[in-house]
Amino acid sequence: MSKSNASQRIPRAKGIDMAAVYSPKECGRKARHLILPEFNQRIVDEFIAILGMREEFEEHHVPIPNRVVMYGPPGTGKTLTAFYMANILELPLVLVRLDAIIHSHLGETGSNIRKIFDYANTFPCVLFLDEFDAIARTRDSNDEVKEMARAVNTLLQCLDDFGDKSIIMAATNLEKDLDPAIWRRFDTKMTYSLPDYKRRQHYMELLLGDFQCDEAAWTEACDQLEGCSFADIEQIVLKAKRKAIIERQPLQGKHIQDACDEYKPDVATT
Ligand SMILES: Nc1ncnc2c1ncn2[C@@H]1O[C@H](COP(=O)(O)OP(=O)(O)OP(=O)(O)O)[C@@H](O)[C@H]1O
Ligand SMILES: [Mg+2]
Repeated sequence: MSKSNASQRIPRAKGIDMAAVYSPKECGRKARHLILPEFNQRIVDEFIAILGMREEFEEHHVPIPNRVVMYGPPGTGKTLTAFYMANILELPLVLVRLDAIIHSHLGETGSNIRKIFDYANTFPCVLFLDEFDAIARTRDSNDEVKEMARAVNTLLQCLDDFGDKSIIMAATNLEKDLDPAIWRRFDTKMTYSLPDYKRRQHYMELLLGDFQCDEAAWTEACDQLEGCSFADIEQIVLKAKRKAIIERQPLQGKHIQDACDEYKPDVATT
């Protein structure tokens, strides 16, 4: 994997307005704090270590992994992980939302998929396919939409032809809908879940920084925010901070409670 200054050599995505390209530096700014469960952290670290030992793997004829699928509830860090990886690997990130490339014209969806893969094959990058289930749904459930079945086949072909200079990362909330043939194409699978108490605590620490906060409010909030995603916690803490600033007070339990009531997180447990 090229570790050179790839950001200066990103070819223009001519004719594909559905792709957004981020330099490794921009990716680093977006993924400043990423909290992963130990299991995922291990997978990420190993993945990165392997890519730094390319020659050794080639010597042993062991293929390098370069296809990651991430699945789990919204707001748990899938997109963030793609930015994080691109930054660590010093590769540009090509972000494509697959739901945005579905076209009603016959054959257009497949041709859009092909254009994206052709582009991503022209330089080492992390190709991040977001909302992956939009196309990779099982062909059975799409029988009525022949166009979609064709698009899945094109996607399979593109995944098979994808070179090993780049990395594909795909994210979905609906892993059960993925076509088994697509699922099989990925050598690395990462499941995401809502943060446990320890990770809520860690995230709150990061979000609060040196913002003045009642100790009791802080620990209470770690309990109170059970069932929230990281993204929910971020929004609630921001809201609570605004309330504290308006009142010129340290952050208190009532600020978090009010922020939580207003934000109405779609809490899964509680
Ligand atoms: N694991 C995490 N560590 C730190 N911050 C996180 C984490 N997960 C989410 N966040 C915060 O929530 C925001 C949204 O997260 P992200 O876009 O990665 O979620 P996602 O899993 O891709 O969700 P979706 O399924 O809706 O696309 C991030 O920008 C970050 O501020
Ligand atoms: Mg996402």
